[in-house]
Amino acid sequence: MIAPVRWAGDRLLLLDQRELPVREIERPYTRWEDVADAIRTLAVRGAPAIGVAAAFGVALAARESRATTFADLEADLAVAIKGLAATRPTAVNLFWALDRMRRTVEALRGSSVDAVRTRLLAEAQAILDEDLAANRAIGEHGAGLVPERARVLTHCNAGALATAGFGTALGVIRAAHAKGKVALVWVDETRPVMQGSRLTAWECVREGIPHRLIADVAAGSLMARGEVDMVVTGADRIAANGDTANKIGTYSVAVLAKHHGVPFYVAAPFSTIDPSLPSGAAIPIEERDGAEVRRVGSQQTAPESSPVFNPAFDVTPASLIAAIITERGVFRPPYRF
Ligand code: MRU
Repeated sequence: MIAPVRWAGDRLLLLDQRELPVREIERPYTRWEDVADAIRTLAVRGAPAIGVAAAFGVALAARESRATTFADLEADLAVAIKGLAATRPTAVNLFWALDRMRRTVEALRGSSVDAVRTRLLAEAQAILDEDLAANRAIGEHGAGLVPERARVLTHCNAGALATAGFGTALGVIRAAHAKGKVALVWVDETRPVMQGSRLTAWECVREGIPHRLIADVAAGSLMARGEVDMVVTGADRIAANGDTANKIGTYSVAVLAKHHGVPFYVAAPFSTIDPSLPSGAAIPIEERDGAEVRRVGSQQTAPESSPVFNPAFDVTPASLIAAIITERGVFRPPYRF
């Protein structure tokens, strides 16, 4: 099984996604500061995986702390939680997981420092285990929506690498593939960071899922030719009305799908739903370094001095989404979670 985030004895191991598909390197982490850096630099990425890694970051902070009293430990953990929360703004799973860790600490007020350390590690592991179970349930619910001999298009990587394992959108595809329903997966390469070609294609190769990689700009003509039966993507944050933030380019795919009458599905666990936001307009969108657009990998493809607009995510309005697939079942508009 692909395990992008796992605990091994006294350390956190992250499969370094910056190195894929060329090298499979697991790196050890013992400091929350380094986990924060791994999240910021995309060594670990994908909304649920970021949440799981951050939860282990808090567990590491408890182990790093030299505090001997609950109050001092709580103060150290507050610093770590703030630092981890400042890494990436869009995926709500990060804040959801950190909040769960913070509430775990609060509930232990007055306990020994060792008891807090033990409990936080168990909580992080529970977040990982629950995400894995949610992914499998999403896969089962979603597979029912996949027609026989389906040609399915996906954008970015919402696979095992982006979660505790198995995946959300790619989890639906995995489950449908296991039932013999998938004829072909169209994999958007997903400029500028190439999560589709580097990560989704890598997962498909590993699992023997039939796929074909396309440049993002080819999706429209494929749909026009009638070669896409459905689209399924992941999500970074879903507002109360179903508006969904996901990797930049998802909105364009959803508009194309609507135009061509192709059903567009979102697959995500409940930890990705943010009921505090009435609509997608309130979702904070991360803007990343322009160098990601001026280069393809290490190859420069634009003048160094060209200004760049590089939003990492966009918002797909609920009106373009046929259904949202969660571990609790398939939700259809109007969305009431
Ligand atoms: O910038 P990334 O690679 O973290 O963006 C990832 C995505 O947009 C995924 O589609 C989303 O997080 C869902 S992962 C199950």
